[in-house]
Amino acid sequence: MNKPLKVAIAGLGSVGVGVVKVLEQHKKLIGERAGRKIEITHVSARNRDTERGIDLSNYQWVDNALEMAGLEGVDIVVELIGGEEGIAYELAKSTLKNSKSLVTANKAMVAHHGAILADLAQNNNVVLRFEAAVAGGIPIIKAIGEGLAANELNLVYGIMNGTTNYMLSQMEATGRSYDEILAETEALGYLEADPALDLDGIDAAHKLAILSSVAFGTKTDFDSVYIEGIREIETVDIKYGKELGYRIKLLGITKFEDGNLSQRVHPVMIDRKLPIAGVMDGFNALAVDGDFIGRTFYQGRGAGEGPTASAVVADLIDIARGHSGPAFFKPASSLVSASPVPITQRKGVYYVRLHVLDEAGVIADITTGLKNANVSVETMLQKGTERDGTVYVVMITHETRETAMKDALNRINELPSVIEKPLFIRIEKL
Ligand code: HSE
Repeated sequence: MNKPLKVAIAGLGSVGVGVVKVLEQHKKLIGERAGRKIEITHVSARNRDTERGIDLSNYQWVDNALEMAGLEGVDIVVELIGGEEGIAYELAKSTLKNSKSLVTANKAMVAHHGAILADLAQNNNVVLRFEAAVAGGIPIIKAIGEGLAANELNLVYGIMNGTTNYMLSQMEATGRSYDEILAETEALGYLEADPALDLDGIDAAHKLAILSSVAFGTKTDFDSVYIEGIREIETVDIKYGKELGYRIKLLGITKFEDGNLSQRVHPVMIDRKLPIAGVMDGFNALAVDGDFIGRTFYQGRGAGEGPTASAVVADLIDIARGHSGPAFFKPASSLVSASPVPITQRKGVYYVRLHVLDEAGVIADITTGLKNANVSVETMLQKGTERDGTVYVVMITHETRETAMKDALNRINELPSVIEKPLFIRIEKL
């Protein structure tokens, strides 16, 4: 048998603990599959004394994770510290510069610095892998880069954040408000330490930026992802959407055409019969379109100790097997800078929800606003008195430019009878 692969693990949160458990529990199986043993030699975390429920006595403790990059005999550093900059990024860079391979679950770091890290890995003849950074247990990076490698890809979309998918599912299932479900989700410990990462769509955008590069061979460009989260969604939108045949999901959508890259994360209304519309609770799902294969669809757990550790260990096995291809499946030097397509160029159908006073002339004023912005309406419903003297007016537009839609809602928002900021949700035909 080949000599064992020696691994140092930086970060012993739930994913790090999961990686230790998988490598210990499946030692024999992994050794057989990888063709060599994978051995943890060193571990590091902020606090040595935390009770983690695993035995760390066989590994050498390293106080300063940054030292792992220079440890004699270590082949791979597994970075599970997290964060876009700071120790994680310093460790990642110096690991690669010291000609050690790097496996990471750090979506923020890869989304922001993927092209630089890929370049470092290539120049130092080592391997960079980050399957765990996107959709946890779904092996989407390997599926795109290996299984679909014969295809030209131009569309990837999906549910990339389990927490917000759970919240939207719970709002629909219980009819309770956003604030109530948010409090419950927080109590369950599902939110990121900084909840904005989940609620404002940033976490999903990190994953989307990585997938764009993997699928299209473009340089990771997080800054050009258009991002909107779920904070404005109310239970009434879920209810009215349902009556109209739609379900609300927070999707990441990336399209690449003629060198132009459109990357966006925002709530959408989609046909309830689409497979992805049926993906509920904490699950993630992804659809990838290839020119020879057509549409492919993937579903699974996107977070948590087991699924994320499973992806990290799969990357280790990959490296142990001697797979050394480039991180984004083409040489780092040939990743292209795409032209970002701004959201203002979107043309499509919109759901609009207005909360207005129930008085004469309101509908006439609303339609004047729409007419002046050149927005044509397909369906308009007035939904009973929800609160004293007020009603919801719900509309589905005909195909409209995003700029016209925003213009119309700015005009409508100025009407004295409009008592809440109007909301629109993009309807996507996927
Ligand atoms: N906050 C993330 C989610 C964790 O909810 O999907 C996994 O990346």
